[in-house]
Amino acid sequence: MSQENTKIDKESTATMEKIISLCKRRGFIYPGSEIYGGLAGVYDFGPLGFELLKNIKNSWWNSVLYQKENYFPIDSGMFKNPIVWEASGHTQGFSDPLSECRVCNTRIRVDKILESIHVTADEKMSEEEINILFDQNRDKIKCDKCGSKDFTPVKKFNLLVKSNLGDFTSSGSDPVYLPGEACQGIYLNYKNIVDTMHPKIPFGIAQIGKAFRNEIAPRNFLFRQREFEQADTQFFVKPNENKQAYKEIRDDRFNWYTSLGIKPENMRWKQHENLVFYASDAWDIEYNFPWGFDEIEGIHDRTNYDLTQHMEFSKVDLHYIDSGNNEKYIPWILETSMGVARVFLAVLCDAYYEDDLGGELRTVLKLDPSIAPYIACVSPLLKNKQELKDTARDVFMMLKKEFGNVAYDDNGNVGKRYRRQDEIGTPYCIVIDFDTTGSGTDVNPDLKNTVTIRHRDTGAQERVSIDELISFIRGK
Ligand code: GAP
Repeated sequence: MSQENTKIDKESTATMEKIISLCKRRGFIYPGSEIYGGLAGVYDFGPLGFELLKNIKNSWWNSVLYQKENYFPIDSGMFKNPIVWEASGHTQGFSDPLSECRVCNTRIRVDKILESIHVTADEKMSEEEINILFDQNRDKIKCDKCGSKDFTPVKKFNLLVKSNLGDFTSSGSDPVYLPGEACQGIYLNYKNIVDTMHPKIPFGIAQIGKAFRNEIAPRNFLFRQREFEQADTQFFVKPNENKQAYKEIRDDRFNWYTSLGIKPENMRWKQHENLVFYASDAWDIEYNFPWGFDEIEGIHDRTNYDLTQHMEFSKVDLHYIDSGNNEKYIPWILETSMGVARVFLAVLCDAYYEDDLGGELRTVLKLDPSIAPYIACVSPLLKNKQELKDTARDVFMMLKKEFGNVAYDDNGNVGKRYRRQDEIGTPYCIVIDFDTTGSGTDVNPDLKNTVTIRHRDTGAQERVSIDELISFIRGK
C-alpha cells in the first residue's frame, strides 16, 4: 500500500485537537506546571518529545554546521547586559498592539485580529496609526469569549520579559531582560570568533538558544509560546556580496525541511512586503498548519545593521579587516531564525495520518526514520515464554547499544503493540518468535536466528537475520 492511497483527507485528520491529544497521551508534550493548573504559553517535552526534538536539532546542526565549511557553533549565556536590548531596538520597538475587552477583560493582539478580517496592520505603525485603523474596523470585531464589541484603545505592549538578576534592591528599576531573541548572543560573540578562530569572510555562526516573549495571546499549542527555542545562523558577508549567498541559504533551508520528511507542497515562501528600514530583503518559510499557512522560519538579509548598532552602543570596533588586502568593513549579515517547537509541530502535523490498514482504522505518525523517537521496537511474540523473552532482550540490548533510541514492548498482543508503535512513529517493529529460537514444534529450521520486521507505513513484514539487523536498519 503506498503512502498516497492509505491517506484520508489531510484536513479531516490532523486537527489541532487530535495532535494535542496524541502529544499528551503518548508523552510528547505536557502542559507546563500542569498539576498547578498550567502556565499559559509554556510547555514541557516528555520522553518521546525529547527524542523527537533532539533528532530535529541534531539534523539542524548537521545541516548548518557539520555539512558546511566555515560555520562556528556557540552557546551563549541567556542573560545579557541590558544595553544589548537598547542597541538591538528591543526596549523601544519590540511590541505588539494590545486591546482589552471591557466586558470580560480578554486581551487581544490587535494586528492578528485585524489580519483575521483581512486588514493589514504594519508592525511599523505608531500607536496612533493603529488606533485609527482599529477604530475604522471596530464594528467588524467582537470578543471571542463574550461577543462584546467594546474594546479599550490600543496600547503598544513591550514583549521583553524582565528579571531581577543581580538586583538586590527589589525596586525593579534596573531590569536584566530574558532574551527576546536568541541571535543577540551571536552578534555579541562575533568579535570573539574573529579574534580566536580567525575565520575568513564569508563565515557563519550558529546557535540554538531560548527566547522569552510576553506574548499577549499565546495560541495554537506550540506555535506561539512565551518560552521557546530558536535555532539561528548568522552568515557574515562582504558588503554588497549578499545576493548569491542569500539565494543559496534560502534554498538550503527549504531543502532541509524536505530532508526531515515534510512534504514540499505543505510549505511555501512568503516575501516581506514592508521591510524594516535596514533590511535589504526578507523571506519566511511557511507551513500549512491545520489553521492555514504560518511562519516557521525567517531568512533575512539584515545589511550591517546589527554590528553597526552594537559598535555604536558598545564603542568597541567591530570592523572586519581582510588579512589579504587590509580592506576594512562592517560585514553584512544574512540571518536564518527558526522556532524549533514550530518545526516540531509542523513535523507532527505532516506525519499524522489516519488510515485503514488491513480493514482496521489506525492513527500513524509517518515520521522520517532519521527523526522518529524510537527507530525500532523489539518484542517477544508471547510474553510468558522465557526463551522468546531472553532472545528478545538480547536483540533489544544489541540494538540499543547501537542506536540508543529503541523500545521494548511485551504488553498485550502483537497487533496492539503495532498500533501503539504506529501512533508514535516507530518505523520498525521486530518480533522474536519460535522460528527465531528454534524451540517448540512446527518451526522452520531455515528461519532460526531470523526475526520478523514489520514496516510501519505499509504493514508489510519480512524476515531478517539477527546478524544483519543493524546493517538492515542503518541501510533504511
Ligand atoms: N532573530 C530574528 C527573530 O527572532 P522572529 O521572526 O521574531 O525573528 C524567528 O522569530 C522564529 O522564531 C519564527 O520564525 C518562529 O519560528 C519562532 N518564534 C517567534 N515567536 C515565537 C513564539 N512566540 N513561539 C514559538 N516560536 C516563535
